[in-house]
Amino acid sequence: MKRFRRLRASEQLRNLVRETHLQTGDLIYPIFVEEGEDRKTPVDSMPGIFRWSIDRLDEILLQVVQSGIGGILVFGIPAHKDETGSSAYEENGITQRAVRYIKQNYPEILIIADVCLCEYTSHGHCGLVCGDEILNDETLPLLAKMAVSLAKCGADIIAPSDMMDGRIAYIRNALDESGHVHTPILSYSAKFASGYYAPFRDAADSAPSFGDRKTYQMDYANGREAMREIEEDIAEGADMIMVKPALAYLDLVRQARDKFDLPLAVYNVSGEYAMVKAASSLGYIDEKKIVLENLTAMKRAGADILITYHALDVCRWLCEEKE
Ligand code: PBG
Ligand code: ZN
Repeated sequence: MKRFRRLRASEQLRNLVRETHLQTGDLIYPIFVEEGEDRKTPVDSMPGIFRWSIDRLDEILLQVVQSGIGGILVFGIPAHKDETGSSAYEENGITQRAVRYIKQNYPEILIIADVCLCEYTSHGHCGLVCGDEILNDETLPLLAKMAVSLAKCGADIIAPSDMMDGRIAYIRNALDESGHVHTPILSYSAKFASGYYAPFRDAADSAPSFGDRKTYQMDYANGREAMREIEEDIAEGADMIMVKPALAYLDLVRQARDKFDLPLAVYNVSGEYAMVKAASSLGYIDEKKIVLENLTAMKRAGADILITYHALDVCRWLCEEKE
């Protein structure tokens, strides 16, 4: 008989033969920054997550520094939205000011800047709109402007999440021409039109006012197409790639890991977070157990970088285990 149980007999043995390890440095924590003063606005559908005004950011940034996580992903929520999302690429836009503040005061924090128009447009779409069409090529210069302005403010990594075609090459070129040849691009390469983003759209006030995102985000039925999206982003100059959401897409994380050599991120999105929080608040599941199991599964599937709203909690749990 094969005795698999031999190596499961004690905590020490299990530790010795464990194949996958979560590390604090793998984790990226998303942070929402809003206009105004003295604000720490709870996001109803995401317990434990807040929208911070810049003057109160220290509270969360100090936790980030102490936690040892790999970095943060910054989302700005402007007071003013318009057709072209102009506050996305203004020198003094909310995101620009937030990135400058963080870089100046916390130079040790790795800042990833999400690049997309949907938080800044009055219609809530990720690109320019003409009638009921979401324009592709006309959107690219605006994304590039946003990327360059955030790189200038001190963003360490540019992460385009819009899903327009050709954006990686366009943004890479704009970064290079503006002297940011060393700023890497983390592309949201295989980003699916997903019901799992609903709590984020509450948080960022970015739900589309008409239609949906299905003409630019991917159909969740398509795995082969996801590989083609990733392949193209790499060809266009992406330094890192992403699959998003995470849990329902781990087959594609595995395929991407086997097929491509670039660092691979997954985004454990807002709806995945909200489900865990809701079920654990009802006592149906144990939050810590479920989160560690979910995130370990993402790494086991092949992800190197885990973007998750649980990041700070996970760091606390990992430290407690070491003590
Ligand atoms: C903006 C963006 C979204 C998310 C990350 N960047 C929302 C969307 O595409 O509707 C979702 C993140 C989450 O749900 O946690 N394009
Ligand atoms: Zn968007």
